[in-house]
Amino acid sequence: MTELSISKGKNKQALTTAEQLARKELIAMVPYQSARRLFSSADAQEDKIWLNANEAPGKGQYQLSAENINRYPDFQPDSLISAYSEYSGLTKDKILATRGADEGIELIIRSFCRAYQDSILICPPTYGMYAISAENHGTPVIKVPLNPTDLTLDLDGLQQQVGKVKVVFLCSPGNPTGNLLPQAQIIAAIKLFKDSAMVVVDEAYIEYTGEFSPEYSSAKLLSDFDNVIVLRTLSKAFALAGLRCGFTLANNDVITLLSKVIAPYPIAAPVAEIASQVLTNDLTIMQTRVKQTKALREQLSTWLTEQNWCCHVFTSDANFVLFRCTSAEDKTRVFNLLLENNILIRDQSKQQQLENCLRISIGSEDELAQLKKLLTTL
Ligand SMILES: Cc1ncc(COP(=O)(O)O)c(C=O)c1O
Repeated sequence: MTELSISKGKNKQALTTAEQLARKELIAMVPYQSARRLFSSADAQEDKIWLNANEAPGKGQYQLSAENINRYPDFQPDSLISAYSEYSGLTKDKILATRGADEGIELIIRSFCRAYQDSILICPPTYGMYAISAENHGTPVIKVPLNPTDLTLDLDGLQQQVGKVKVVFLCSPGNPTGNLLPQAQIIAAIKLFKDSAMVVVDEAYIEYTGEFSPEYSSAKLLSDFDNVIVLRTLSKAFALAGLRCGFTLANNDVITLLSKVIAPYPIAAPVAEIASQVLTNDLTIMQTRVKQTKALREQLSTWLTEQNWCCHVFTSDANFVLFRCTSAEDKTRVFNLLLENNILIRDQSKQQQLENCLRISIGSEDELAQLKKLLTTL
């Protein structure tokens, strides 16, 4: 892996031409340690069990026409936008399809923050890409941590930053915390920043909440507030992480702005074809998958509470469970035992407030049974 961080500490003489020409902060920057960067799929020959990236287990079957593949795709393929409009209940002019929700994050920062001038705000512990995308764009990151007791928003802390930031990222359900933010708090945050910042509600895991209903989503707030953006993805409940397809939902003036910044042909034709098919024909399959995942999540959470190396299991409204080990030694023992046996989970212990915490994605029933069997030997 050639990470730019390897250049840290080189003297000017030793820098390559590219390193001398590049933005200085890129030389020392550590890129996002995505699940696939930590363990690549080339390792898969060993039949690993992947429980580290919050993907859904199971594969679908799709028909591809490959017709017109010699032509550039439409900027925003109508079949895809219509299908997501139907699914989300929003009009087509409020939807932008992107290469995953990650591209939505990047576009928002690039559209609203002037490099080296405007800041974003995040509420750790939270999804790592907000800070990485900001750093990449020369955008300072202000942190207002979640309340440690219940992982809700610190509204007083947010109020103190009004006027100092251009974009606020809220994650609901949170990754890696798993909890939904109370809707009243999200509305309060949107009102606080109404004249000064866009409030982004990242709903990558929204399908896993309660009995998924619009009641939990912030998409309905688009009709009342101009400064709301909602992020969604097909990578989780729809089991299409490899497709790279997400959606940014916002009022049309915001969509128009983001459309100026996004690449000219962001959605490859086969991606649009598969995503449209799934959104049109496979909603019941998605709902069944989500139901199974939620049942397995509850079983795993209960099982974890019974283990003597686990002292806390966080409530989850997503497709993963975060838990705290009784000590740093126990955390390492759990992680390493699984790793040695080709089961990959995610260490979250470096995140603020998450000492000794690990996160397990809800895989298949069989995968979780193997994980439990192994951990019983600890
Ligand atoms: C909270 C959150 N937002 C966004 C993403 C990125 O999703 P996508 O695969 O659509 O880029 C993830 C992926 O893990 C996530 O956890």
